[in-house]
Amino acid sequence: MSQTETTKLNRYSSTLTQEVSNPAAQAMLYGIGLTESDLDKPQIGIASTGYEGNPCNMHLNGLSVYVKQGVQANDMVGLIFNTIGVSDGMTNGNAGMKYSLPSRDMIADSIETVVNAQWYDGVITVVGCDKNMPGAVMAMARIDRPGIMVYGGTIRSGHYKGQKLDIVSAFEAYGKKLAGNISDEDYKGVIQNSIPGPGACGGMYTANTMASSIEAMGLSLPFSSSYPATHEGKQNECRKIGAAMKRLLELGVTPKDIITRESLENALTIVMALGGSTNAVLHYLAISRAAGLPMTLNDIQAISDRTPLLADLKPSGKYYMEDVLAIGGIPAIMKYLHGQGMIHGNCMTVTGKTVAENLAEAPDLEFESQKIVFPLSQPLKATGHIQVLYGNLAPRGGVAKITGKEGLRFEGIAKVCEHEGEILDFLAKGEIKPGQVIVIRNEGPKGGPGMAEMLKPTSAIMGAGLGDKVALITDGRFSGGTHGFVVGHITPEAYEGGPIAFVKDGDRITLDAEGREMTLHISDEEMELRRSQWVKPAPKFTRGALGKFIRSVKPADEGCVTDEE
Ligand code: FES
Repeated sequence: MSQTETTKLNRYSSTLTQEVSNPAAQAMLYGIGLTESDLDKPQIGIASTGYEGNPCNMHLNGLSVYVKQGVQANDMVGLIFNTIGVSDGMTNGNAGMKYSLPSRDMIADSIETVVNAQWYDGVITVVGCDKNMPGAVMAMARIDRPGIMVYGGTIRSGHYKGQKLDIVSAFEAYGKKLAGNISDEDYKGVIQNSIPGPGACGGMYTANTMASSIEAMGLSLPFSSSYPATHEGKQNECRKIGAAMKRLLELGVTPKDIITRESLENALTIVMALGGSTNAVLHYLAISRAAGLPMTLNDIQAISDRTPLLADLKPSGKYYMEDVLAIGGIPAIMKYLHGQGMIHGNCMTVTGKTVAENLAEAPDLEFESQKIVFPLSQPLKATGHIQVLYGNLAPRGGVAKITGKEGLRFEGIAKVCEHEGEILDFLAKGEIKPGQVIVIRNEGPKGGPGMAEMLKPTSAIMGAGLGDKVALITDGRFSGGTHGFVVGHITPEAYEGGPIAFVKDGDRITLDAEGREMTLHISDEEMELRRSQWVKPAPKFTRGALGKFIRSVKPADEGCVTDEE
């Protein structure tokens, strides 16, 4: 490496390692074991959300060691640091889930903090759960130094009595238990066998949605989202990251060269084609803002309108993410869509090549031999499954996931739950009946706080056999594992005096996914009367992480970001 190259590649870390006015920093770097020649090398922060407490993250510190080996092998210094992760599968609507969405911005803040404060020349994020990935990408966009995201990989499916299982199987077993539809032995059997080891939840839920679409956006290596956590390809990917990072440093390619309007469209096209999570809407609104290219709900709707649903993946379909690798992974799907003019090929990626150049090496998607991804001539649904609904219930929008299996229109009678937990009480008492629109409110970004995911309610409804007989609307969110006629992200939220706060039991509600409307059938005068009688609730938290989140979070239609005025 010439001195000119060295200076270029270590332009940030050289502030600490080369300037004579920083003897303490240099002493500390010798103290951690670096040599004199190491101080000339670029320094790469390796941010891991590894922790032992859940399957999505339990292996990430191990993968980070492989990443570091690859970085060191390419004549750079790799320095691992940790940030937090919160497992959405191990939270509870009345406690932990309130921290889930806030954790995304805490992760972004913490990665930004370490990389900027310690003057790293680049960052590799090793992440593997719902909020970790958007949090990492938001940080990478803010920092805008060469960066690559490594996905920890999807989980393998579990098995019990000849059936494949995943985390949603465990949630739905609870609904079956409430409805008396499962024996104690089978209930235990499902829980003990749903999760066979490391990896993120295995359907096209939020983690796999974000991993697939971030790969499509160009911020992770091809196949990063397709290798399961325990696949040898995942370790190989980690070892290859060092060479890719070196190339990015040499080319001077940063995340803002990669995150562009067109690459965001590529990401969201993949979300739509795969039937991905509604959480992707929230996260891409936030990522686009972090990159200085703010998208709106209508931008996302436009992508949904022009992108057919092609993949028969869980939660609404049959297959798991582990099955996608066998048909050529996300690169094969992207190659097909690119060939059909649906993916922008000119976008830069972390390989240092464009999307089109990467896809030239990708396998072809064969339609004769598989039923996981369908051709554009035979889509599962002619347009995307994400629908933004507006109306007097959601003046600034609500986000629905409509795959077609749940119908396109639902008209019913409101059953109001003042918080997520209340529906479980109603279910246990037999008060949830066919024909109801269940309204779960006070779960928005500020009111929840944290916009809890309604996985437990929707899974319990499914387990109780009411999945196609009721609809559910909320100012909270849905898990990527949710299916059924559901509309979330309703904005303004109840806490801010949104109309969802004024719904009463027995009101008639229409949800029209085709006309993209959600209507509370009361007169304008009645709406105003209820508004005048409404009293804003006190914030549930005023101190600590959640108190800060309530004060700083933007509404769902602005991605719930916390770093804007
Ligand atoms: Fe981590 Fe599902 S809880 S991916």
